[in-house]
Amino acid sequence: MFTLAHLSDPHLAPLPRPRLVELAGKRVLGWLNWRRTRAAIHRAEVADALVRDLKSQAPDHVAVTGDLVNVALAAEFAPARTWLDRLGSPHHVTLVPGNHDAYVRAALPWAAAHWGDFMRGDDGGAAFPFLRRRGPLALIGLSTAVPTAPFMATGRLGAGQIARLQQLLADTAGLFRVVLIHHPPAGRRGRIKRLVDAADLRAALEASDAELVIHGHDHVHALEWLAGRRRPIPALGVPSASSSGHGGAERAAYNLYRIEGASGTFSCEVVTRGFRDRGDEIAEIRRQKLTT
Ligand SMILES: [Fe+2]
Repeated sequence: MFTLAHLSDPHLAPLPRPRLVELAGKRVLGWLNWRRTRAAIHRAEVADALVRDLKSQAPDHVAVTGDLVNVALAAEFAPARTWLDRLGSPHHVTLVPGNHDAYVRAALPWAAAHWGDFMRGDDGGAAFPFLRRRGPLALIGLSTAVPTAPFMATGRLGAGQIARLQQLLADTAGLFRVVLIHHPPAGRRGRIKRLVDAADLRAALEASDAELVIHGHDHVHALEWLAGRRRPIPALGVPSASSSGHGGAERAAYNLYRIEGASGTFSCEVVTRGFRDRGDEIAEIRRQKLTT
């Protein structure tokens, strides 16, 4: 049995005090939004408790699907690296970036500089998509993180990344292929939050097949079934790993995928652990077989 843990969107707190010059443009809106609502939702003590519980489950590997930071201030990236190091070594933790990690164009190189060890393929390549093999898994990391205009939280893969994804999926057929992406590949998303080339991604997945897609972005529990070549592909999302539940937000949770069997006969069960509607204990919320 191989156990893959998945958490997302920790939006790590506290937000460092921005310098005035950093609040020019889009960041000022994000910073005001942080102070108005998000600081009450995204709590360091919640993320700490979730990580403690995750580590107590001793997964073989951990996947993080982006939005480590909030408005991509320069001072947010090093603490996020410390958080990643606490989660595990770069060999045991795989990261893909989210739109908040690329909140402004100036921040684009910082994610790679600070977190690159967690976003690299086994061949050492830093380009997306990257491929890592762990046990029976082929982990394929995509980046949808592009800077966008104020009020927009869209993502884009681009034709080149989708073509390379399709090739990697074909090359790793027979393994349990897990695609890591920040934006959901399907579902009814508002225009301002969507993955703009989601239809092209779904076409590539259908052409090459994958066993599992995991994502973040919407901060909710989600399960969509995508069309596959031979069988439907489950795509699952999790709430923010730091969510206190303030204002009706879904409370922090993560998924554990327990994968058994061999090529052609894989079975996968997902165990969701997190905070229930009431109380401060982290417990199992649900358990579901995913037929692959
Ligand atoms: Fe997020």
